[in-house]
Amino acid sequence: MSNDPKEPLLLDHNYDGIQELDNNLPRWWVWLFYITIIFSAVYLVYYHVTRTGDLSAAEYDQEMKAGQEIKSAAMGKFESSIPALTPSTDAAVLDSGRQTYAKFCAPCHRVDGGGLVGPNLTDDYWIHGSNYVDTVKVIWDGVPAKGMITWKTVLKPDEIQSVASYIYTLRGAKLATPGKPPENQTPVKTGPSAFE
Ligand code: HEC
Repeated sequence: MSNDPKEPLLLDHNYDGIQELDNNLPRWWVWLFYITIIFSAVYLVYYHVTRTGDLSAAEYDQEMKAGQEIKSAAMGKFESSIPALTPSTDAAVLDSGRQTYAKFCAPCHRVDGGGLVGPNLTDDYWIHGSNYVDTVKVIWDGVPAKGMITWKTVLKPDEIQSVASYIYTLRGAKLATPGKPPENQTPVKTGPSAFE
């Protein structure tokens, strides 16, 4: 075969005057065709005979597994960047919470939580909700309009978790000096005080 058009071979059929010319195929095309045959043989042996390569289903599973790992790593990182949603009872955590409280919160909420500028944290009256999560949220975001600082820019998430866990233990505390009376909040019994 060559690329030069040789004496064209006319095939011996004729339909309404239309004839077919059997040209030689260009060499590059023929080689491409041979390469595809070789490729298919290699492919067959590689994937289906020796099973050296993974088929798409197995590759999909692997990719999904890798994706899951990336996802759980990212979720773990995210979860460690926000305070937990239940109060800690760990003594070390509560102690560090007590120190944070004494330093940052006591000036407004009184050392024993009885309340000064800020409300009493030991009674059953809550302005922003009585659940632990409400407490975390109000510390996290603050109530700037009412003088409660937004602590998320001051304290780290685990410090917010420890101070919130600490003030949770103050609920229902018997105060030596009476605490600040509730203003117009509704009483709700939750947390340690609910069990007294
Ligand atoms: C500058 C004074 C001030 C400081 C400091 C302060 N608070 Fe407050 N806090 C307030 C005031 C005022 C309110 C009441 C907000 C309102 O009326 O909406 C409040 C409300 C709260 C509430 C919600 C109480 C409820 O009844 O819903 C919690 C919980 C709280 N503070 C925790 C803390 C913690 C923890 C700290 C220390 C990290 C702290 N606060 C520091 C002034 C302060």
